[in-house]
Amino acid sequence: MPTAVQANKIVVLSGSGLSAESGLPTFRDSNGLWNQYAWHEVASPEGWRARPEAVLAFYNERRHKAWHAQPNAAHAAIAALEAAYEVIVITQNVDALHERAGSTQVIHLHGELAYARSTAAQPKRYRIDDAPIALGQLADDGTQLRPDIVWFGEQTQYMDEARAHVADAAKVLVVGTSLSVHPAASLVWAAHATAEKVLVSLEMDSVPDGFDFQRGKATERVPALTQAWLAQAAATSP
Ligand code: APR
Repeated sequence: MPTAVQANKIVVLSGSGLSAESGLPTFRDSNGLWNQYAWHEVASPEGWRARPEAVLAFYNERRHKAWHAQPNAAHAAIAALEAAYEVIVITQNVDALHERAGSTQVIHLHGELAYARSTAAQPKRYRIDDAPIALGQLADDGTQLRPDIVWFGEQTQYMDEARAHVADAAKVLVVGTSLSVHPAASLVWAAHATAEKVLVSLEMDSVPDGFDFQRGKATERVPALTQAWLAQAAATSP
C-alpha cells in the first residue's frame, strides 16, 4: 500500500450497470444476460470447444448492439472529470462507451467487443468494430478468429496495473457493478484508507468497507458527484 495518494488522481471501476441506461443489458439483474443465456455455454473455453457457433452468435449480437449504443450522462460525466483530474477508468465492460464519451485512459479487464483475436498460442489481435466473426473465418496465422473477450476461467488482464492505480488514487468511484466476479471485484480492497470511496449502484448485496453507498441510477448519481468533485478542484486550484 503506498504511503500517500495522488491528490488529483481519480480511479473509476465500472460495470454493466453503467451501460444499462445506454440500452445494454447487465448480467445478473432480472433481465440480465445470465438469465437469458447459460454463461458456461457462451462465455467459457468449454462452451467454445463444444459449440463455437453459439459463442460467436452470442458475441456477434452483443457487438452489434454495443456498436449502435450511445454513451449516457454518466459516461460523459466521468469523461468531463479529465478537465481537472487524472482519471483512470478500469472497466469490466466490453463496450467502448467510455472512450466514445471522451475518456482517454481506459483499461478493459475483460476485453473488448470491437476486437477479435486469433486462437494461436501467441494470439494476434484485430480491430473489427461491429463486424461479425464467422466459424471458419481465419486469422492470418491460419487459426480460427474468436472474440477478444476474457471468458470465465481465463486470465483477467491488466490486474497488476489496475491494482496499482487504485492504490494511489485520492478518489475511487465504483459504479454499476455487483462486485460478483473476481479478481476484478478485489480491486476495491486496494483503495487507500485515506481515499474518498464512493459506490453507485441500484442495489448491492454488500458494500465494501469504507465506501459511501449512493443508491440510484448512474445517470443521476454520477453527474451530481462529478460536479461536486469539479467544484472541489476549482475551489482548491491556484
Ligand atoms: N445505474 C446504476 N447501477 C445499475 C443500473 C443503473 N442504471 N442498472 C443496474 N445497476 C447495477 C445493479 O444493481 C448491479 O449491482 O449494476 C450492477 C450490475 O451487476 P452485474 O449484472 O453483476 O454486472 P457486472 O458487475 O458488470 O458483472 C461483472 O461478470 O459475467 C461477468 O464478465 C462479466 O464483466 C462482467 C462481470
